[in-house]
Amino acid sequence: MTEENATLYRGLREVYIDRTTSSYIDGKAGKLYYRGFSIDDLAENCSFEEVIYLVMIGELPTTGELSEFVSDLKASMELPEPIIDIIRIIKDAHPMDVLRTAISALATFDPEVNDNSTEATLRKGTRLTAQAPTIVATHSRIREGKDPIKPDPDLSIAANFLYMIFGEIPDPQDAKLIDKDFVLHAEHGLNASSFGARVSASTQADLHCAITTGISVLKGPSHGGAAESVMTMSLEIGSEDNAADYVRKTLDGGGRIMGFGHRVYKAIDPRSLHLQDDLKALGERKGEPKWYSILQKVLEVMQPYSRRGICQNVDFFSGAMYYLLGIPEDLFISIFAVGRIPGWTAQVVEQFENNILLRPRLQYVGELDREFIPIEDRS
Ligand code: ACO
Repeated sequence: MTEENATLYRGLREVYIDRTTSSYIDGKAGKLYYRGFSIDDLAENCSFEEVIYLVMIGELPTTGELSEFVSDLKASMELPEPIIDIIRIIKDAHPMDVLRTAISALATFDPEVNDNSTEATLRKGTRLTAQAPTIVATHSRIREGKDPIKPDPDLSIAANFLYMIFGEIPDPQDAKLIDKDFVLHAEHGLNASSFGARVSASTQADLHCAITTGISVLKGPSHGGAAESVMTMSLEIGSEDNAADYVRKTLDGGGRIMGFGHRVYKAIDPRSLHLQDDLKALGERKGEPKWYSILQKVLEVMQPYSRRGICQNVDFFSGAMYYLLGIPEDLFISIFAVGRIPGWTAQVVEQFENNILLRPRLQYVGELDREFIPIEDRS
């Protein structure tokens, strides 16, 4: 086949590049499975710690296995002092840039950084999953001029995350919401950031490189940035009565409604359904039911788009949930990143275990054999 008649798969739409046992998305039916377990069962019954184990190891843990695993996670939650110094130096950067830089820097403190065996990669993934919430919370404190708070070994990852941001043991209902949110974000097929992580791993770069790549790719508004954009939209709408006009004007102007649409789901993203009632209850509990009402109105106006497969995705309700929990808007995407580290790790392990260099082609459409003119003769 010559390059001229090569078939282009722009955006790699519908292209399968390998096999996986980590997760399965049935985009038509709106179903998601981690390691064969429905997200509906996991979101309602499992802690994030259990799901990290499931996604990375492949099985649900027994009580004994979970307790040992939680001890490993807790042993890694604190950050080396030089990482905190780096965070101080770059405190004015976007939280995702700080997370990416701190994870990259953590490579230099990890004794197994260059060991790409499955066992070492899983140990590193466990450490990074434990360290990431501490990075995000430490940065949040430092940029507000406050002292960082060390993780409390008696708290879960989710409760610790809120504790280290706000300095108070969180309401268990709030911690439960963050826990569920982490569960819902843990793994998701060959999304752009997991693909980025796999490309990195395919060159036999290490896990820290792959996760740094994943965080970089996640930052874009078409991927992880939508939760923040949905909240910005809700703030602009301001009240339920303005929602229909806002949506119509945005669409008429060729804009997109954030938190809608997905490359794989052509039905409702099942993850969004797990946050919907929680957001309603949270809004009532915090005395701010209007954000839920605004989003309900947006859903109503967008209803005709579901016939074209444009439905709400996971980010649609999560932004308002973080907002009501008092989390600053530019931290929203970092919460997604923290939740996704187990999925990136699982996919990097899969890539290493059956590696092939990910190296597609580009069809060249420029000129050839152009006349070379020495610099002194160029006008
Ligand atoms: N609002 C209105 N129309 C939309 C939306 C939307 N949110 N999303 C897609 N469409 C329309 C497009 O305009 C296009 O219409 P056309 O065929 O008439 O040109 C059609 O649906 C297909 O859109 P594509 O951009 O080709 O779909 P793609 O699969 O490339 O994009 C994406 C998926 C990027 C998620 C897109 O739906 C989008 O921009 N959504 C808003 C951002 C968002 O919510 N991102 C989070 C995704 S979920 C996640 O990463 C956790």
